[in-house]
Amino acid sequence: MAYPITRLRRLRRNSALRALVRETEVTVGDLIQPLFVREGTRQRRPIASMPGQFQLSVDELVKEAAALAQAGVPGVILFGIPDRKDAKATGAYAANGIVPRAVRALKKEVPGLLVITDVCLCEYMSHGHCGIVRGQEILNDPTLALLAKAAVASADAGADIVAPSDMMDGRVSVIRAALDKQGHAELPIMSYAAKFSSAFYGPFRDAAESAPQFGDRKTYQLDAANAAEALREVAQDLAEGADIIMVKPGLPYLDLVWRVKERFQVPVAVYNVSGEYAMLKAAAQNGWLDEKAAALETLTAFKRAGADIIFTYWAKAAANWLRAGG
Ligand code: PBG
Repeated sequence: MAYPITRLRRLRRNSALRALVRETEVTVGDLIQPLFVREGTRQRRPIASMPGQFQLSVDELVKEAAALAQAGVPGVILFGIPDRKDAKATGAYAANGIVPRAVRALKKEVPGLLVITDVCLCEYMSHGHCGIVRGQEILNDPTLALLAKAAVASADAGADIVAPSDMMDGRVSVIRAALDKQGHAELPIMSYAAKFSSAFYGPFRDAAESAPQFGDRKTYQLDAANAAEALREVAQDLAEGADIIMVKPGLPYLDLVWRVKERFQVPVAVYNVSGEYAMLKAAAQNGWLDEKAAALETLTAFKRAGADIIFTYWAKAAANWLRAGG
């Protein structure tokens, strides 16, 4: 039916009508808050490029987590900032490393909150790459055993989900086998399967002190131009046993969120990364954008594209906005 029989504006006339026909809705239960944990006590260090985000010592992390749980946020993902880094990423898989200690504290003090750990080596490597380095090369196969150990260290500490983000080939199957062998057959793996080499990770690398000291991540992370290749990564990780698939970054890769959901019909997570957060924050601080409206519109776009789970630095703020009625 064409105009004037059909007038699409009829259902937009007031907010009650608009609410009645609204197709997607972001709820606080969809949101995961990323948190950065460092050594020490009573540390709450602001991250300059991510206003409103902090590096937290374990005691402060527990307080923040309790506030998140109170606000209704279902989970957090942890990134560790160790005191010492080396060429084997020892801190990534030490049983008493910063992340396992944080996980134990959280599971004890805020037991209902889901704790996801980002399984990667870059924060623990002196050179900042996500794998073992020989010369200028990032080695794939020797890296896998270290990733498996890191996943097991998180699992032993009580993590609810492990999320490998390194982009080495074959990591999901190696991690799955190691978890199964160590009594963690029931622990889900969320794979950052479609993770692109992106300029939008810049602020995160300040926050996690994990910028590569030479070169870049283009030999392991996906090329921004490639969607078919991203879908191959997803298919492969699912075949290796991934339970949830992550697309990252978020806004510049919404097409992948949509295509992964359409094609594979598996739980899909999207990571609204640090650069996406920093851009909007900077504009809001200049009075150029309305932060709340723009952030909620962004989160809605992820749901509309098919995401089930949204990793976002706005999780806590959005929980409060959503409770107050959007
Ligand atoms: C790797 C990792 C990164 C992010 C999450 N996990 C950084 C990278 O690949 O360089 C980025 C998250 C963000 O930008 O918010 N451990």
